[in-house]
Amino acid sequence: MHLLTLHEYPCLCFYAVLLVGSLIILIRRYRNTESTANIPPGSQGLPLIGETMQFMAAINSGKGFYDFVRVRRIRYGNCFKTNIFGKTNVFVSSTESAKVILNNDLGKFTKGYIRSIAELVGDQSLLCASPQQHKLIRSRLTNLFSSSSISLLIKQFDELIMGTLQAWEHRGTVVVLNEVLKITFGAMCKMLMKIESGEELETLEKDVAYVYEAMLAFPLKLPWTRFYKGLEARKRIMRTLEKMITLRRRGLEANHEDFLQYLLTEDDETLRLTDAEIQDNILTMIIAGQDTTASAITWMVKYLGENQKVLNTLKAEQLHLVEKRSSKSFLTLEDLNQMPYASKVVKESLRMAAIVPWFPRQALQDCEIEGYKIRKGWTVNVDARSIHLDPINYNDPNEFNPSRFDDESKPYSFLAFGMGGRTCLGMNMAKAMMLVFLHRLITTYKWGVIDSDSSIEKWTLFSRLKSGCPIQVTRITTN
Ligand code: HEM
Repeated sequence: MHLLTLHEYPCLCFYAVLLVGSLIILIRRYRNTESTANIPPGSQGLPLIGETMQFMAAINSGKGFYDFVRVRRIRYGNCFKTNIFGKTNVFVSSTESAKVILNNDLGKFTKGYIRSIAELVGDQSLLCASPQQHKLIRSRLTNLFSSSSISLLIKQFDELIMGTLQAWEHRGTVVVLNEVLKITFGAMCKMLMKIESGEELETLEKDVAYVYEAMLAFPLKLPWTRFYKGLEARKRIMRTLEKMITLRRRGLEANHEDFLQYLLTEDDETLRLTDAEIQDNILTMIIAGQDTTASAITWMVKYLGENQKVLNTLKAEQLHLVEKRSSKSFLTLEDLNQMPYASKVVKESLRMAAIVPWFPRQALQDCEIEGYKIRKGWTVNVDARSIHLDPINYNDPNEFNPSRFDDESKPYSFLAFGMGGRTCLGMNMAKAMMLVFLHRLITTYKWGVIDSDSSIEKWTLFSRLKSGCPIQVTRITTN
C-alpha cells in the first residue's frame, strides 16, 4: 500500500480545497439560477432607492415620465422589472397580459397606487379604497353617469365652449391647453356641485392645481415643498366641500340637480356614502376628469393641425351636420351620434396620446405573467402606451389615421380608458366633451398650430403638451 509522503499532503489538501470550493460555487450558482430564473429582466438599481432617481429625472425632463419606461422596454422587452420608491415594479405590454391583469378573473390583483397620492385625494377615494369599499362607492357613482347626466353635460359644455370660442375672435392666437383646462374645470364643477363662477371657482381651481402638481412630487412634508403645498390645498378643498354639505343638509342652499345633491339624498342607508367618502370622491372626479380631458383635446388639435387630409374629411362631416341641424340650439347626444368620423378622430387621438400611460396593480399572491414569476406584493403595471404604439397591434402606429378604426381592433389593444372593473367612469362624458369641442372648433375657425414642439410638461401625472399647443385662429363663415 502506498502511503502518502509528507510532501504529498499539501498537494492533496490543495486539491481537496479546490474540489470543495468548486462544489460550493456550483451549488450556489445552481441555487441562484433556481431563484432568479424566470424573474423578469431589469435592474433593481441602488439599495433602498432603486431607480427612483432615474424615474424622477424622467419626470423632470421634457420627454415626460413615460420615457423612463420607454427606454427600459426597448432594452428588456415586453416584461421587465425595476424598483421605484422602494417597491418592485414590473411593466408588461402585451394584450394577453393586459387581459389577464385588468380582467382579474382569478382575483390575483388589486389596484396599486402610490401612498402619497392617497394622502392627496384621500383614502376614501375610489382610486385608493379597499376592494370592498371600492365596489360600494363605484356602484353609487356609476348611477351618476347615466345618459341623462351626459345629455345635460353636453348642453352645459357646449354653452361654455361657445362662450370661450366667441372670445377667441379678437385674440387671434390662443394656447389650447390653457383654454380647455378652464372649460373642463368649469364643466366638472358645474356638473358635480353647481359651482359656476366667481371667487369660489377661482380659488378651487388654484387649489386643485396644487393637488395635481403634488401627485408626482417627492412626499416630503416641508412648507416649501410641492407635496406640502398640495396637502394644504387639499385641506382647503375639504373645508369648502364640508361647508357646502352642511349648508345643503340644513336646507340653506337651493336644491341643485348636481352629483353632490344626488349623493346626499340617498334614502337607502346601506347605499349611502359617508361625508368623507363624498368629499374624497368629488375631488377625485375633478382630478380624474379635468386634466385628462383637457390634455386629450389639446393633443387632438395638434394631431389635426398636422394632418390636413384628416382635417378635410372631418370638416366635410361636421359642415354637413351643421346643414342637417335645422336649429342653432346646443348640441345633443343625438347630434354626437351622427359624427362617425369625428368619433374615430377622438379614438385615434386617445390611442396616440395615451393620456394615462400605464395602470398599476398590486399582486395579491405569487403568480406568473409572460412566463415570468411575479411575487406577492409587487406592483404590476399594464403599459397601455406601448400597447397603443406596438406595430403588432396597429399598422404604422405613429401615423395619425382615424380610419384604422373602420375595422375592429384587436381585443385589449385600445386601453385609453382602461378595462375591467376599473374602467374609467367618465369615459362617455370625456368622449362627448371631445366631440362637442371638435364640432365647435371645426365649424367656427380655421387654425394653424404655431409651435409643433412635442415636449411633455414636467411633473404632470398625465401626458400634457408642454407648449400647450398655441394656435392662430381665423373665424370662418358657414351658411
Ligand atoms: C380623456 C379623458 C379621460 C381619460 C383618458 C381617462 C382615463 C382613465 C383610465 C385609463 C382609468 C383607469 C385607470 C386604471 O385602470 O388604473 C380611469 C379611471 C377613472 N376615471 Fe377616467 N379618464 C378620462 C376622463 C374622466 C372623466 C371626465 C371622469 C369623471 C368625471 C373620469 C373619472 C374616472 C374615475 C372616477 C376613475 C376611477 C375608476 C375606478 O377606479 O373604479 N375620467 N380614467
